[in-house]
Amino acid sequence: MSVFTPIISNYYDAQGWIQITEKDGSYFDDKPVVTDPLHGMIVNFSHYTKGFVKKYHKHSMSHAVYVIDGVYSSEGKTYGPGSLVLDPEGYACAHGAPPENDCKFIWITNKAGDIQYLDEETGSEGLEIESTNAFDVGGWEMKDQGYEEKKGFIDPETGAALSFLRIPAGYVIEEEFSVNSGMFIIRGELDSDIFSLRENTLIWMPAGYRRRWSAGHQGCLLLRINSTDGGI
Ligand SMILES: [Fe+2]
Repeated sequence: MSVFTPIISNYYDAQGWIQITEKDGSYFDDKPVVTDPLHGMIVNFSHYTKGFVKKYHKHSMSHAVYVIDGVYSSEGKTYGPGSLVLDPEGYACAHGAPPENDCKFIWITNKAGDIQYLDEETGSEGLEIESTNAFDVGGWEMKDQGYEEKKGFIDPETGAALSFLRIPAGYVIEEEFSVNSGMFIIRGELDSDIFSLRENTLIWMPAGYRRRWSAGHQGCLLLRINSTDGGI
């Protein structure tokens, strides 16, 4: 039997930030939160200051970005708060923050992987960046359980899944997570029987973790992160 305490981290807690320096001397701030043992999924908080751009590159894993505040830019397109942006494995691009905005975001990979910087703009052979947004009105689906879900992305290799959940005020559920899973509170509050999760807080829980949850009086909008197939 193992004992596992959930990881709980708030983006705006000043502790835990480190500086990552690129080869050209530019840098960004990163707060490591989760490295999940199953596939090596990483869930970190990150902060690009305005004008920071990671040089043209590709990865041996897929990465998704959830924009908490500011603007994320990739290949000439920009994505504002609430955006969930997926770069599939092998997609070549230069991503960063535009000259006029910082970008505060969550960084989520589907598995362990590395980065390969590219000297030339190689293109991505049919791979496409994908995006959705938590604040867009479309795409919501009412579930039998009584909350709404907007599907994000499901990784075909690892089964890792991202989706948005909209939980009405006062909604109460007691549930056990069947795979290692996370929740990031975008708006509102999610209360458990022993603690409350406020906006901009990420909780990461092991398979088998059981808790009684209730949405606060404003309801709760959250990003759900599953490390593999399954979940609740
Ligand atoms: Fe990247």
